[in-house]
Amino acid sequence: MDRQYLIVGNWKMNKTPSQSADLVKEIVDLRRGIASHVAIAICPPFTSLDRCAALLSGTDIAIGAQNLYFGKEGAFTGEISASMLKDLDLKYVILGHSERRTIFHENNELIHQKIKAAQASQLTPILCVGETLNEREAGQTLATIGEQILSALNSVDSNLVIAYEPIWAIGTGKTATPEMAQEVHRFIRELLLKQFGENGQRIHILYGGSMKPDNAASLLKQPDITGGLIGGASLVAESFVNIAAAAPNG
Ligand code: PGA
Repeated sequence: MDRQYLIVGNWKMNKTPSQSADLVKEIVDLRRGIASHVAIAICPPFTSLDRCAALLSGTDIAIGAQNLYFGKEGAFTGEISASMLKDLDLKYVILGHSERRTIFHENNELIHQKIKAAQASQLTPILCVGETLNEREAGQTLATIGEQILSALNSVDSNLVIAYEPIWAIGTGKTATPEMAQEVHRFIRELLLKQFGENGQRIHILYGGSMKPDNAASLLKQPDITGGLIGGASLVAESFVNIAAAAPNG
């Protein structure tokens, strides 16, 4: 079977609803040139979701959110629930991004609750994991990733995506070498196989951290890298779609 790839744009806190609509239209146009073995999804800010979802209906581009709160409903001022997102026909939700772990103090336990809430509403969580530069230099990369993954996966099902994003590579222009990334992706694949048996083989493991059109091909040809989570380069339709176009065929 040919390899299937998944390329996801994480727009972070960028684009007003009208700017988002313009960007989505450009992506829809350019997507026509991309082979079907590459699935594409975008994750705009909450305020743009409704409008973008309407523009994407009838296309093969999926849409997701960047966060949720695990409570079902009620007195959680400022928060958004999984069922609110599902009602917009969203497919994905990014959870545990390092910016949320660092700036908003999210810990592994909270992220675990969010993953369970997402799956209970039939959303596919994109769980982000990654080590700091200090952890890498101290030889703790795999221990950190192992803890982040195992704490998140306790009694959840295999409807999920993992994104490995070394924190020192996010938005810095520094990318992990393909070999560095592959080593961590292999380790993650083994954890998934242990946890889910054969179903673990079908879970996407995305690389994220300064992925660009010119470094995407060498990352995406690694055996255990099945896609990318793209920040900065997803804000320009051409560079986002060119990353998708770099996925090897066959
Ligand atoms: P970047 O961000 O591509 O701008 O490095 C990736 C991410 O944070 O998901």
